[in-house]
Amino acid sequence: MSPVLAIEGLGKGFTLHLQGGLSFPVLRGETLALMPGECVALAGPSGAGKSTLLRCVAGNYGASEGRILIRHRGAMHDLAAADARLMREIRAETLGHVSQFLRVIPRVPALDIVAAPLLARGAGRAEARARAAALLARLNLPERLHHLPPTTFSGGEQQRVNLARGFIAPNTVLLLDEPTASLDARNREVVVALIAEAKRAGTAILGIFHDTEVRDRVADRLHAVEPLEPAA
Ligand SMILES: Nc1ncnc2c1ncn2[C@@H]1O[C@H](COP(=O)(O)OP(=O)(O)OP(=O)(O)O)[C@@H](O)[C@H]1O
Ligand SMILES: [Mg+2]
Repeated sequence: MSPVLAIEGLGKGFTLHLQGGLSFPVLRGETLALMPGECVALAGPSGAGKSTLLRCVAGNYGASEGRILIRHRGAMHDLAAADARLMREIRAETLGHVSQFLRVIPRVPALDIVAAPLLARGAGRAEARARAAALLARLNLPERLHHLPPTTFSGGEQQRVNLARGFIAPNTVLLLDEPTASLDARNREVVVALIAEAKRAGTAILGIFHDTEVRDRVADRLHAVEPLEPAA
């Protein structure tokens, strides 16, 4: 079996424009490969660069160096060099991302936010909405909220909408940033079950889990992200 995600020598630095263009590195030489059905948890102290690594894979941050290879439509593509069109296609079909906070789109009801990845994969509107409703119900989101935009939802309600959106359609690779941070014990169990089901379906998961109990139950191994010494 060959990896579905291979991060090779990934480096990322930031330039502080407000401090005279001072640059500092956060990631250097990160190398990591994920097989189908495997869950790898990023570990390391606060500020080490775990979220930065996830954001580079998600395409939210450009990599400063290295390659981020993902298997898409049967071939490996470098996310670090992908143009906007290929990136959109990979996000629609191959790469799911549950960010730490839901990016709320004004006026779009929760149900449609969750159904969107299914529509992007060619499902009909009625079927997509029915499956979205079923998954939101499984995550214990009250039905009266399904038709409202999540702008006024609580943190945990928004997180469950975000999770439903990430898990509703099959992904080759799924990124999870603190997926249980705002959840109660009952919904945490639902998320652990969703992760196990996705792994069985062959999805490779790269995640950050501050909840070590959840992490130990879902992760097959840890990948340590070490803080870099600031250049003298
Ligand atoms: N957009 C940015 N601009 C400048 N610096 C940034 C940016 N994003 C992250 N950083 C810096 O990069 C470093 C790593 O941040 P990151 O959020 O990846 O840490 P983390 O390992 O996820 O920490 P935590 O466990 O606290 O979430 C921090 O020093 C942070 O200040
Ligand atoms: Mg973080």
